[in-house]
This record gives sequence, structure tokens and C-alpha cells, in this order.
Amino acid sequence: AGSGKFFVGGNWKCNGTKDSIAKLVSDLNSASLEADVDVVVSPPFVYIDQVKSSLTDRIEISGQNSWVGKGGAFTGEISVEQLKDIGCKWVILGHSERRHVIGEKDEFIGKKAAYALSEGLGVIACIGEKLEEREAGKTFDICFEQLKAFADAVPSWDKVVVAYEPVWAIGTGKVASPQQAQEVHVAVRDWLKKNVSEEVASKTRIIYGGSVNGGNCAELAKEEDIDGFLVGGASLKGPEFATIVNSAT
Ligand code: G3P
Repeated sequence: AGSGKFFVGGNWKCNGTKDSIAKLVSDLNSASLEADVDVVVSPPFVYIDQVKSSLTDRIEISGQNSWVGKGGAFTGEISVEQLKDIGCKWVILGHSERRHVIGEKDEFIGKKAAYALSEGLGVIACIGEKLEEREAGKTFDICFEQLKAFADAVPSWDKVVVAYEPVWAIGTGKVASPQQAQEVHVAVRDWLKKNVSEEVASKTRIIYGGSVNGGNCAELAKEEDIDGFLVGGASLKGPEFATIVNSAT
């Protein structure tokens, strides 16, 4: 971990029921979490209100997506205004499942980020290469292209956390090695330095996601440019998520 405040997000994706979420919230409420870590969970939209009213204020809440502009006649979408109204402080944008399953494009994702930031939400900006792209030696190109779409759109990086999530590591149990993750994090920081500013490069937290669990988090957290994690599957288990939150200390 670097010098910035460690950041751990739990992306619950499209999982859970009222009952299972009540249990998870109660486990999180009783977990002991290191003070010097930003902790955020991202429940499915329909359960955010339930989570907000039962979860400790120690943990902030994020949407898993948001509409690109002001709400209105956009069937099935959730607006930034609505996320704020129910108490969200963050939104995850550009997650690989939205890019590759739903088909969201770089420019659209950049616009979403700009809108969310303009309304005061923090943005967890996801980037990452697919397996065939890594094998073709295109990891950096893909990450930089996705990063550029964010950089071209956002007016400020103050409330942006970059999440590097190699697609081949997501939900596969095949975690990137600490060296593989560190290599990309350094490259991302370097890109920010050259293309945005030295200050943004040093201040922006770059977190890793993809099969992070209670067993592999400590080794990853030792890397200097890994400033936290975005956790999927393991964030559905309160005690394991707490282990990940506490992994940098
Ligand atoms: O956003 C977090 C995520 O995509 C990683 O998922 O299940 O591999 O931890 P998982």
C-alpha cells in the first residue's frame, strides 16, 4: 500500500435477498475495521435503502452504476440524484460487466463519470484488460485507452478512485499476482503523471480487483502502488471482507 488512505470497496453485484443482506449488514456492523481505511459497499439498487437504514455510518454506500445525465424518461435507469437522495456517496462506473456484458463504451462511461462528479458523488472508475488482450501484449494500451476516456471527461480527480480489474481475474478465482497488479498500477500512475499531472498521479488511489479474498489480500496490499481493493465474491461474507479491509496493517 502507498501513502494514501487505503480504500476497500465491496461490490455485491446482482446478489442477495432481503434476508441475506440483513445478515451481511449485521456481520459488517459487528466487524472490527481499522480506522485508517475508507470502506464502501455497493449493494444492488433495490436494497440500498435497507442497507442505508441498518448499516453503521462507518461504511459508505455506492451505487453500482448511474445514468449519464439528469433523471427523466429513461426506463430502467437510476439517476445520480436518486443515488444521492438515498444516501450514496459513491458510484462504480465502467465495471467490466457493464463494458463487456451490457456493452457500455468508453466515451459514455466518461460522460457518466463527469456527471456523477459534477453532482458531488465520488467515482470508482474501473479499467482492465481481457485475457486475449493481455496475451496479445495489449494490457497497457487497453488500460490507457479506458483511462483516457475518464481523463478526457472529468474536470477533477479529487473524488476519483481508479480500480484496475483485469477481466480474466474477475470471479474466476485466478487472482493477479502482486507483481502483475503492481506493474499495471505503476503504469497507470505513470500515465496519470504524463497526461494529467504529477499531483493527480501521486494523490489518486489505484485499487485492485479480481478474485481478492481473505487469503491473498495481505500479499497484494504489500505492493507500494496497490492502494486498496474492489472486492466481489468475498465481499458477500462479512468476516472475510473485514480481513480484506484490515489487510494493509
Ligand atoms: O468489482 C469487483 C469485482 O469485479 C471482482 O469480483 O468476485 O472476482 O472479487 P471478484
